[in-house]
Amino acid sequence: MQFDFDRVIDLRNTHSAKWDRIAAGTKWRGPHDDDGPDAADAIPMWVADMDFEAPPAVPEALRREIERGVFGYYDTHDSWYEALGGWLERRHGWRPDLAWMSVTPGIVSGIGLVLQALTEPGDEVVVFSPAYHAFRYIIEANDRVVHNVPMKLEQGRQRIDMQRLADTLTPRGKVVILCSPHNPGGRVWEVEEIRAVADFCAERGLYLISDEIHGDLVYPGAVHVPTALAAPQIADRLITTVAVTKTFNLAGAHVGAVIAANPDIKKKIDARISASGLVSQGRFGLIATEAAMREGDGWLDALIPYLAANRDRFADRVVRAIPGARAARLEATYLGWVDFSGTGLEMEDYMERITRRARIGVSPGPQFGPGGEKHIRFNFAIRRALLDEALARLEEAFSDLG
Ligand SMILES: Cc1ncc(COP(=O)(O)O)c(C=O)c1O
Repeated sequence: MQFDFDRVIDLRNTHSAKWDRIAAGTKWRGPHDDDGPDAADAIPMWVADMDFEAPPAVPEALRREIERGVFGYYDTHDSWYEALGGWLERRHGWRPDLAWMSVTPGIVSGIGLVLQALTEPGDEVVVFSPAYHAFRYIIEANDRVVHNVPMKLEQGRQRIDMQRLADTLTPRGKVVILCSPHNPGGRVWEVEEIRAVADFCAERGLYLISDEIHGDLVYPGAVHVPTALAAPQIADRLITTVAVTKTFNLAGAHVGAVIAANPDIKKKIDARISASGLVSQGRFGLIATEAAMREGDGWLDALIPYLAANRDRFADRVVRAIPGARAARLEATYLGWVDFSGTGLEMEDYMERITRRARIGVSPGPQFGPGGEKHIRFNFAIRRALLDEALARLEEAFSDLG
């Protein structure tokens, strides 16, 4: 079956956060966050949404619901858990027990519930920075403290700095969040790297949250290994968060799962889910994600080469367009990560060129914490012709520097 990722879909005025909030920027309380391009022809390359239609099974399943016209409370998540188990087994060779799973309204809320279940206000949560900004947001919103452990770069590749983690952990450190694969920067962690983090957590009595939301968006040559498989030694302190909402462009569905094999941990998380009144979930999100998990393999298999071609096109051309810029070699995710430190430009200057002259909405690197300075994240999960337009605008916006 053919899928048309080049189809033009006008997403303006559709409650698309990516398209309709572009002028306001990302609002994550960092420099330039309220400073998106305010132009009718602006191109959004910021928040991690794709511009593509979901697999056909999703609108088909939703249409069946709509036609019935009755939208009562949704009973039991069993078939959803079955579908998730099947998906994880087919795609990653991991078959978690269905009794370990709890559905949550997305991953960020799931992580918040886990922090509430397992830690106290004031406890520290380790993130390997630069790290997905909502980790910081949900940690701080729960009155816990972010402990950034900046990564090292080895031949342009992100590496977890285990020594720095060991040297800086305080007695308040209770949890490590491993973003696997990593956002931003697109690393797919090798088994040895995952094991090193897991061993450290086991040794120091820390919980490990492995956020694997990007695990399906991995390019040929890299293999995502779930932490549960890579490091079984941490099973009783491991909480894995998974969702197919990035995979299938269903972020608005707001459905994810928290998976914990340790029954005590699972009980504590479920108690927080109950206490927050989240035992029952939205019907449409469950139906959309279940349809995708059951029938979306072919679509995803077609998407990956399309994204891989965008990745290569973006990385090749962005470094030619912007003298001195370096693009991370992404092993996963559709979030290009560009280092401006070699351009000799100040952030004010390159942001002005990108947002005002090129009229492109991006995610400024500082919002991802230490290590994100002088970086910009560009979402290239857009149709090829629009990507070419964005690259042409960047070439023009930096043309005086060549
Ligand atoms: C690493 C990571 N975790 C979680 C999310 C968001 O998850 P949700 O929308 O399910 O809260 C994102 C979105 O970009 C992400 O990059």
